[in-house]
Amino acid sequence: MADKGKKSKPQAKEHPLTSWLKTKFRGKGEGPGPVDTQFLTDLSGIKTIGRYEIVSQIGQGSMGLVYLGRDPYIKRNVGIKISRPAADVGEEKAEKYRERFFIEAQSAGRLMHPNIVSIYDAGMHKDFCYMAMEYIDGPTLKTFCKNNQLLPMSNVVEIMFITCKALDHAHKMGVIHRDIKPLNIMLKKSGHIKITDFGIAQIKSEQIASKGIVGSPSYMSPEQIRQKPVENRTDIFSLGCVLYELLTGQMAFPGMDYLSIMYKVIKEEPIPMEKIRPELPEILVKITKKALAKDPDQRYQTCEDFAYDLRVALRGLRETTKSTKAEDVFDYVNSVSFFENFTKDQVKEVLKSSSVFKVPRGEEMVAEGEIKDSFFILLSGKAVVQKNNKNIAVISRGECFGEMAYLSGQVRAATVLAETDCILMEISATLLDRSSETVQLLFLKSFAKNLIQRLSKSNVKE
Ligand SMILES: Nc1ncnc2c1ncn2[C@@H]1O[C@H](COP(=O)(O)OP(=O)(O)OP(=O)(O)O)[C@@H](O)[C@H]1O
Ligand SMILES: [Mg+2]
Repeated sequence: MADKGKKSKPQAKEHPLTSWLKTKFRGKGEGPGPVDTQFLTDLSGIKTIGRYEIVSQIGQGSMGLVYLGRDPYIKRNVGIKISRPAADVGEEKAEKYRERFFIEAQSAGRLMHPNIVSIYDAGMHKDFCYMAMEYIDGPTLKTFCKNNQLLPMSNVVEIMFITCKALDHAHKMGVIHRDIKPLNIMLKKSGHIKITDFGIAQIKSEQIASKGIVGSPSYMSPEQIRQKPVENRTDIFSLGCVLYELLTGQMAFPGMDYLSIMYKVIKEEPIPMEKIRPELPEILVKITKKALAKDPDQRYQTCEDFAYDLRVALRGLRETTKSTKAEDVFDYVNSVSFFENFTKDQVKEVLKSSSVFKVPRGEEMVAEGEIKDSFFILLSGKAVVQKNNKNIAVISRGECFGEMAYLSGQVRAATVLAETDCILMEISATLLDRSSETVQLLFLKSFAKNLIQRLSKSNVKE
């Protein structure tokens, strides 16, 4: 009981935003909310889901469990995500949940991209909904957000660049992720990046509308927290949070409870990154800041734009480590046959989006199955193209390679090895896409010429 005699401390007046947030959201703490115990009991001892054999439980999120399963027919591992509507929502809402689950599974299933987890199948197991997807045999990016486990800067930028390109693909297909965070970006043992959980956030948000937010709001955009309609730019903000964390080892918007996190996302700027890590190049600080703009109009407008700046930053980071400045080798570049139809100024323009470096004999220049946005022109030396460890072609000075992956958007179909010491020019497709139309056309012409030469060489062999 309050002592009336004592002067009570004046209560700090609550900020109107805090009261608004309180009426909109409930919930405590960070991290995924608990899966209810009945849920776990109902799944205990489960041996199969649909056609899949259950091998082990590999994860738990706010929506349910993730299992490692085995497809006995195709003989491959699968990740199986299983969830169900909360017990107390009523049949009508439960039905809506199931409907939504399968619509989202369909839209995520439509996305065919090497850096997006493939959805194989979806179905019902008793009253649970499940989704069978590509199994990822590596960690999530959360592992690399810890202070003592940060990745080299150039790797971070490369990962973000690849993620951006994959999100750009999804956005162009009309799918917004809505829940981009380190836990939903995974790194396979092979080094490939995979984004998981497309569309899941939508189901999650409907499921929890009556129960308060589940999971951490630390990566939500201000407009998401304000429950405004979201568009592609919401993913750009979330990606900015991931970039911040991978570079600094700290969350952009940390907090002890939902309210303080959400208040920070809407109102406060993160701690300046350069204070946490003074050696960060200015360009990375600027890129992150732009992605994290509270006002969507001030952010990158598309993931393509975001990717472009990351590519520029990557080029800078690499230049300080391995490559010769392309501008210094103008004469050398200008003299190769690939550029015979280019004017000097056009070659200079191309040099802005490329780097030139040496590759010692025996080293791999591109690897089969790799996804990179660049293609190459051999400036000196000789290289061999290999498929299944067999030499299938030779590349000589002035010829290009890797352009098929760029033109078709597919992974690399063959490996290229340096047969002698080589000098290689690497051209970023993302940067080239921003060059003048004339330069792009000249490239297409040279690609066509190169292709005809290749075809005629293989005809001679036959
Ligand atoms: N396709 C997959 N292959 C292998 N492991 C996976 C796969 N999908 C998810 N996981 C693992 O399962 C864990 C739980 O995933 P889930 O998507 O349910 O929750 P989350 O993304 O961690 O958090 P939230 O509940 O907030 O979405 C992940 O952190 C990851 O380690
Ligand atoms: Mg997830």
